[in-house]
Amino acid sequence: MSTQLTWNAKEATVGELAERAGVATSALRFYEREGLIRSRRTSGNQRRYSRDTLRRVAFIRASQRLGMPLAAIREALALLPDNRTPTREDWARVSEGWRSDLDERIRLMQQLRDNLTDCIGCGCLSIDVCVLTNPEDQLGHEGPGARRLAQPSAYPSCSPSCSMGE
Ligand code: FES
Repeated sequence: MSTQLTWNAKEATVGELAERAGVATSALRFYEREGLIRSRRTSGNQRRYSRDTLRRVAFIRASQRLGMPLAAIREALALLPDNRTPTREDWARVSEGWRSDLDERIRLMQQLRDNLTDCIGCGCLSIDVCVLTNPEDQLGHEGPGARRLAQPSAYPSCSPSCSMGE
């Protein structure tokens, strides 16, 4: 049996939507967990997506391709009244609103690229000299001494018995 979503279908299973949208079913479940799309459950607890979810997924994918974080995408979708499907005008407005954010990220990436020469093939990740671990010497601007030791959150992967994050 084909999983092709016909044009006049009102609802799609997760597999049908995934095939139609060109994404993995796990991605759809993830989007749903993150509150970006919604489904109803059948009596057998299976997901059913309304047809307009396809356009919503396209919006999410296009946003992700621009490098937008999920929080920004969720915020943009939340602005649509009654959780409605994004239109062409919505996308134009939202993507225009993201322009300055994109410009800033492009600038930072270009700066990183230009400063990356020393890192290529290096691997030291030195706090003193590496632009990847300490861009623009941010730690130096925060004050003297071992700045990372003063920040417990700098050790998120410490084991419960480790005292580094205390
Ligand atoms: S990895 Fe060595 S300077 Fe960045």
